[in-house]
Amino acid sequence: MSLEKILDLRGVTKIFGDLPQEALSMLKAGASKTEVQKETGQVVGLNNVSLSVKRGEVFVVMGLSGSGKSTLIRHVNRLIDPTSGEVFVNGRDVLKMSLDELRTYRRTEVAMVFQNFGLLPHRDVIDNVAYGLEVRGTEKRERLETAQRWIETVGLAGYEKSRPHELSGGQQQRVGLARALAMDTGILLMDEAFSALDPLIRSGMQEQLLGLQKELHKTIFFITHDFNEAIRIGDRIAVLNDGELVQTGTPEEIILDPADEYVVDFVRDVNRARVIRVGAIMDKNQLAPCQAEVVENSSCEDVLPLFAHHEWVGVLDENGTRIGGISAKRVIAALARHQALMD
Ligand SMILES: Nc1ncnc2c1ncn2[C@@H]1O[C@H](COP(=O)(O)OP(=O)(O)O)[C@@H](O)[C@H]1O
Ligand SMILES: [Mg+2]
Repeated sequence: MSLEKILDLRGVTKIFGDLPQEALSMLKAGASKTEVQKETGQVVGLNNVSLSVKRGEVFVVMGLSGSGKSTLIRHVNRLIDPTSGEVFVNGRDVLKMSLDELRTYRRTEVAMVFQNFGLLPHRDVIDNVAYGLEVRGTEKRERLETAQRWIETVGLAGYEKSRPHELSGGQQQRVGLARALAMDTGILLMDEAFSALDPLIRSGMQEQLLGLQKELHKTIFFITHDFNEAIRIGDRIAVLNDGELVQTGTPEEIILDPADEYVVDFVRDVNRARVIRVGAIMDKNQLAPCQAEVVENSSCEDVLPLFAHHEWVGVLDENGTRIGGISAKRVIAALARHQALMD
């Protein structure tokens, strides 16, 4: 297996209840979550989910409440064992780890940020951030130095001696983030980490995470029920519905071509002009010289004013190489969800 795939879930099914085998047979025969529950009383958490996450990407799992997101992320650090299927992390079978190996794995390879912060109320900020290192057995001076560094990185300098209850929600989650980052793991698991925060604070946290990621290049497995959050921070997004994966793709792939009505409902409220980048909708054959040019990750919103004076605008890659062209018609087609206009 290529190490490029740092996380690899294969056919993961999770059934909650004491008669999983009967439910499993029904699922294999094509029954739905509702049918299985009606017939057997078992709850389907996940149904045959396969996905792989590449090293260094921000992979978002998005779905309504109850769709199986937490169940999925808990398979990665093996807080949950699947009823069937396999979980590989860094090429290793998580289900085959001994207790000792599992303990080491949880302390060194994955770190988690929780929705409700999960801070220890009687410890001050620096001891909360240093907590994971303490459990790992790092000596005091080193763990406090490391904690201090991360407290500064997330913008909490001066709050070292505060208790969690003295902080706002956004500050508390910065502590949660610093604690996870202090573990220096390759993988960061975030289960609705920003969902409890007010919109403006949440937006600031998203920005901070993206800023950090530019330097840290971690593999981030991020769970959310908020599609706008998913498209803002995800390199790729997997959409879960009733325990089943209905679509996996880049934000543009999902917005431009939603797999079913469930996904369409999420996509409906997106500000398409701001989200869809010209690189995703350009004509790759349009390489004739143009008077105006933009880079491929410009948004439709950015390029629209240029059409007042130009029929075609050239599209450049990061290195300034011409890779295609974009016309007003193509932008309108993408904004109006009119695939046929593309040709
Ligand atoms: N320990 C459990 N026992 C029984 N059912 C559970 C358990 N954990 C989750 N479920 C069920 O599994 C489904 C997925 O839950 P969950 O993964 O928590 O969804 P999400 O995180 O997307 O809101 C839901 O129907 C939920 O009720
Ligand atoms: Mg959840």
